[in-house]
Amino acid sequence: MIRTLLTLLVLSVLCGPGLAEETVCLQCHGGQEGRLGAPVALWKTSVHAANGISCHDCHGGDPTDFGTAMDPDKGFIGAPEYEEVPAFCGRCHLGVREDYSSSAHGKALNRGGAQCVVCHGNHAVQEASIDLINEKSCSRCHSYERAAKVKKAIAQTEVNLQQLEDQLVELHRVGIDTQKISGQLFASRNDFRRLFHTVNVEKMEASTAGFATRLSKIESQIQTIKNELSQRKMIGGLVVLLLVIGGCIAMLIRKSYHEEE
Ligand code: HEC
Ligand code: HEC
Ligand code: HEC
Ligand code: HEC
Ligand code: HEC
Repeated sequence: MIRTLLTLLVLSVLCGPGLAEETVCLQCHGGQEGRLGAPVALWKTSVHAANGISCHDCHGGDPTDFGTAMDPDKGFIGAPEYEEVPAFCGRCHLGVREDYSSSAHGKALNRGGAQCVVCHGNHAVQEASIDLINEKSCSRCHSYERAAKVKKAIAQTEVNLQQLEDQLVELHRVGIDTQKISGQLFASRNDFRRLFHTVNVEKMEASTAGFATRLSKIESQIQTIKNELSQRKMIGGLVVLLLVIGGCIAMLIRKSYHEEE
């Protein structure tokens, strides 16, 4: 018990700076106007803020010292140029970067190929989804037609992922420990979503069968849990029925006993 409390305390101290702490970056830029201040409000809405990734995690520098915060000697790397963005974001998103680099977009990076920020934005990055593939975003540089083909290639797997996720939420709601299966689903989802970055329809279609197998294994684990649940419900029902019958018999015995008196 005391160990749990201590762990929580240590964790909250460790996570504090990442999650909630007012770093000097946030303090100073929060008071700036225009292009220097805007990132703060945008970042607050982002999936990065929600996961404790702050200004200095992307831009480097010393988040504890006003004087040397943006000193290159303290690791400050500033804002990346257009062509530098994939390496900048890819420090943390290694798998995505790998698929992206070998893609038509990655290879055309110096000739106007889309990079991370073009599709995800820079400071207000949101959780990724298939909705990022839409006419407005994907017809800025070429016809939407090729984007639509990519979307079609991943659509069914995305639907399957969503259904499994919904079922796990439902099981979790009735008190089932779904952590292990959720972990497997999360890993499959990440592996699948990095694949989009190849923007290669053949590659996506070729990988679809493999993902279908992975997902059907997860599906059958969920089915097993559901069967156990309904079995447990049936046994519960039987026990109640037996109790009721037992109660009736006891009442009858008592009644006939009283009548004999
Ligand atoms: C005392 C105020 C102050 C602090 C503290 C501060 N900044 Fe800045 N920052 C500025 C000003 C002013 C500029 C614009 C002038 C310049 O580039 O030097 C700027 C520029 C920037 C830029 C744009 C650079 C470019 O190449 O255009 C980035 C990125 C940045 N800051 C990130 C950070 C990060 C990350 C931290 C914390 C580690 C931080 N800042 C701390 C005031 C501050
Ligand atoms: C997920 C990584 C990431 C985080 C977190 C992040 N930035 Fe940035 N920032 C970028 C990228 C990438 C650019 C380059 C702009 C572009 O290409 O659109 C940039 C550009 C900037 C610029 C230059 C803007 C301009 O228009 O010249 C400033 C200033 C800046 N960031 C400040 C901050 C501050 C302050 C924070 C914290 C609130 C922050 N950034 C958090 C990725 C990030
Ligand atoms: C310092 C490490 C780091 C850097 C640099 C970074 N990210 Fe992230 N990013 C994370 C973490 C941690 C998460 C939350 C956990 C997760 O979902 O992977 C995340 C989440 C995301 C997500 C949501 C993933 C999902 O599950 O839907 C996207 C999209 C994303 N980042 C894009 C970017 C882009 C674009 C850049 C560059 C502008 C960038 N990231 C730079 C660490 C980083
Ligand atoms: C900033 C410009 C830009 C944006 C925005 C953009 N693309 Fe591209 N795209 C390119 C360039 C450049 C190429 C490679 C040269 C060419 O084939 O025209 C390309 C090629 C492609 C290809 C062909 C791949 C191949 O192997 O032949 C597909 C598919 C594609 N993009 C999908 C998308 C999707 C989906 C989106 C929206 C999420 C998108 N693009 C947004 C610039 C862009
Ligand atoms: C042409 C648009 C486009 C470009 C360029 C792009 N992304 Fe994505 N990204 C997407 C789409 C669309 C998805 C969601 C795919 C899906 O739902 O299967 C996604 C998903 C993601 C995810 C979530 C994957 C996961 O593990 O759940 C991350 C993280 C990410 N992108 C980061 C990046 C980074 C880093 C770069 C640059 C190296 C980048 N993206 C370049 C459109 C793009």
